[in-house]
Amino acid sequence: MKNFKTLNWIGAVDGYLELIDQRKLPTEFVNINCRTVEQLYNAIKTLAVRGAPAIGVAAAFGVCLAAQEIKASKLADAVKYIEMQIDYLASSRPTAVNLFWALERMKKKLYEVAKIEDLQNCLLREAKKIYDEDVEMCLKIGINGEHFIPVNGGILTHCNAGALATAGIGTALAPIFEAQKNGKKFQVYADETRPLLQGARLTAWELMQAEIDVTLICDNMAGSLMRQGKINAVIVGADRIAANGDTANKIGTYSVSVLAKAHNIPFYVAAPSSTFDLKIQNGSEIPIEYRNADEVANFMDLMTAPNGVKVYNPAFDVTPAENITAIITEKGVIECPTKEKIQNLINP
Ligand code: MRU
Repeated sequence: MKNFKTLNWIGAVDGYLELIDQRKLPTEFVNINCRTVEQLYNAIKTLAVRGAPAIGVAAAFGVCLAAQEIKASKLADAVKYIEMQIDYLASSRPTAVNLFWALERMKKKLYEVAKIEDLQNCLLREAKKIYDEDVEMCLKIGINGEHFIPVNGGILTHCNAGALATAGIGTALAPIFEAQKNGKKFQVYADETRPLLQGARLTAWELMQAEIDVTLICDNMAGSLMRQGKINAVIVGADRIAANGDTANKIGTYSVSVLAKAHNIPFYVAAPSSTFDLKIQNGSEIPIEYRNADEVANFMDLMTAPNGVKVYNPAFDVTPAENITAIITEKGVIECPTKEKIQNLINP
């Protein structure tokens, strides 16, 4: 199914993180090597590695890179240095909670270390565990969500929540891969996902690699396709899910959810438990990343808008829980999500 490694730690404690440079896809398939915390921070910030779970896993390995940079000989000083680098990595992107979740786990490990000599091994073990768990969660999401893939139906997805966005086979695309494995026939429509085209560049590429029937559409075509009866289900990933089920995902997801509701089409969110942020009550508390105006006003270094025009460029929006038919997680499916149902499944 997945014949590439989105992220790959090479070597032992003195190793480095190899990433597919997703800025270059689909025209070039190249890797970049992150050997310093700063290189990894930049890779996350500039979307060389992106997608909530992948960002979390990458940041965990970033803490291992921080451990390589320690000059101190006392454990307390080493811990202080790593804490500083964790804060730095946490400032790379604000919305995907997986980043903070993974860094929190690494920090917890850091405080368990008794001797400075054990630091690197202990952190690398934890980062690899986070990686392996992510692979496992994706597989389970695939199994739990497979029955939502309509036989001979059309499925719309937005952005990229596939293998490129995780250590495993993806979240939103996992049930699709599972359905393919089971021999189901269906058709996927991929929203191109302006402004950075994760749908066109990444999802279309990934599904074609997997020999899944995929058709690329512009974001503004989804409603028309729904009206024609070509879409039978929508499935998307998530960057952060609040306690009440409100879900942040790539900008445009909210519009798709409204369209789905208007056409009576089920709207599914697929996400691992690491994407839930039960500390926040609803979507209004989710920090939304705003990105550079150039991403909207330029295309491949060509200006597509008048110089100096005001630009609004939020990278994410929030879909209210009432627009979500079900959230598919590795622990099970939450139909018509509510605070109680989420609490019971994610944090019993
Ligand atoms: O800005 P990106 O490309 O990191 O945004 C990614 C998304 O919005 C994904 O849908 C989300 O992170 C889920 S990935 C499994």
